[in-house]
Amino acid sequence: MSATFPFTTDRSLDNEPEAQELLARRGPVVPATMGPIEIWLALSYAACKQVLTDPRFSREEATRPGGPVTLPSAANPLVLTSMEGRRHARTRKLVASAFSPRMVALLEPRVQEIVDSLLDESPVDLVSGLCVPLPTMVICELLGAPYSDAPDIRRWTGRLMTGRLTQEELREVEHEVQGYLADLVEEKRLRPDGKLITALVLAHDEGGHLTSSELLANLQMLLAAGHDTTVNQLGNSLLTLLRHPAEMQRLIDDPTLMGTAVDELLRFSRLMAATLPRVTTEAVELDGVRLPAGAAVLPVLSSANRDPSVFPDPDRLDVGRDDAAPLAMGFGPHYCLGAQLAKLELRIALTSVLQRFPGLRLAVDESSLTYRMECNVRALVSLPVTW
Ligand code: HEM
Repeated sequence: MSATFPFTTDRSLDNEPEAQELLARRGPVVPATMGPIEIWLALSYAACKQVLTDPRFSREEATRPGGPVTLPSAANPLVLTSMEGRRHARTRKLVASAFSPRMVALLEPRVQEIVDSLLDESPVDLVSGLCVPLPTMVICELLGAPYSDAPDIRRWTGRLMTGRLTQEELREVEHEVQGYLADLVEEKRLRPDGKLITALVLAHDEGGHLTSSELLANLQMLLAAGHDTTVNQLGNSLLTLLRHPAEMQRLIDDPTLMGTAVDELLRFSRLMAATLPRVTTEAVELDGVRLPAGAAVLPVLSSANRDPSVFPDPDRLDVGRDDAAPLAMGFGPHYCLGAQLAKLELRIALTSVLQRFPGLRLAVDESSLTYRMECNVRALVSLPVTW
């Protein structure tokens, strides 16, 4: 029987049994249908890693009309996610020079202050009390925007990360976000503040600056790519720990495990079934399977992160695990540009919650937890807790 994507996996599960079973029974690369499109599912760790690094798997080809688009907002030709080769390298270097490790490191004390102030309120729902406000406030801090803009940012990013937007809906929300960002850019040109937008405005190389449309499109992508992912990875990580009290206790007893724990939670808690699709530019062998030129291929992160040939006993959560890098934030040239920031937020938030509330437990029966179904990522509606 032909496989289909999206999978129908119950969102309450940390894993994706459908994808894991396909990998175990049918092998590392399997043909499937995604709506009207025929697509190859890259299920193994090796296959996913090759799709993410081998230049014969093209993002640019995948974003052409009629291509396999899973996230319309990531298909704009001006954004990093739909570029490749020299054009991608140049734009990425300019964006990365502004969004530098130094800029992220400087945010650390501010992230801790935000987490502390949110936890001072003793939130009884960790989604509305911590997971949602933290990344929104951090994005405002990063951009140099006032916190009062947070509700709008939240609304726009939620829409941009929906896979089901029509072209018209996408244009509408883009118009709103880009109008907002254009005003913010103008303000930073007049009053530079040393934050991300100012740094992006100033970023240049021998080819000059980013054009104003490139600047706005990529700022919009930073907002969208960085928001729903972090909000929901934080919620999923907390739920996974609540479901594994012995591993949670290990972390409380030895907070130095938090570095590996953040990676293990990214591997284990299945934020998204797959990352962005690619199209082959020539015939290519993928983990032993011959694909023709022009084939659409989807890197299925949920099975790659549970591939038993790379992660022994993959369905066991082990906060000290360091077998291999999980692929939850991609790999290679498009590796998540916000990884350092997202991991900083996760590390500080999880450490602070466990230190403050070592007796943390769910306040409701697990079966009553619900998920936002319109969302491309696994997104808890609320996480009621007590301690
Ligand atoms: C837990 C949180 C996050 C997860 C799981 C995540 C995941 C990913 C993944 C899987 C990719 C690779 C896409 C591909 O190659 O198909 C990616 C790329 C990207 N991410 Fe993240 N991300 C997170 C947080 C962030 C944050 C906080 C930001 C920025 C504020 C960000 C900005 C980006 C950008 C700009 C790219 C595109 C890079 C390129 O194409 O060169 N992400 N992310």
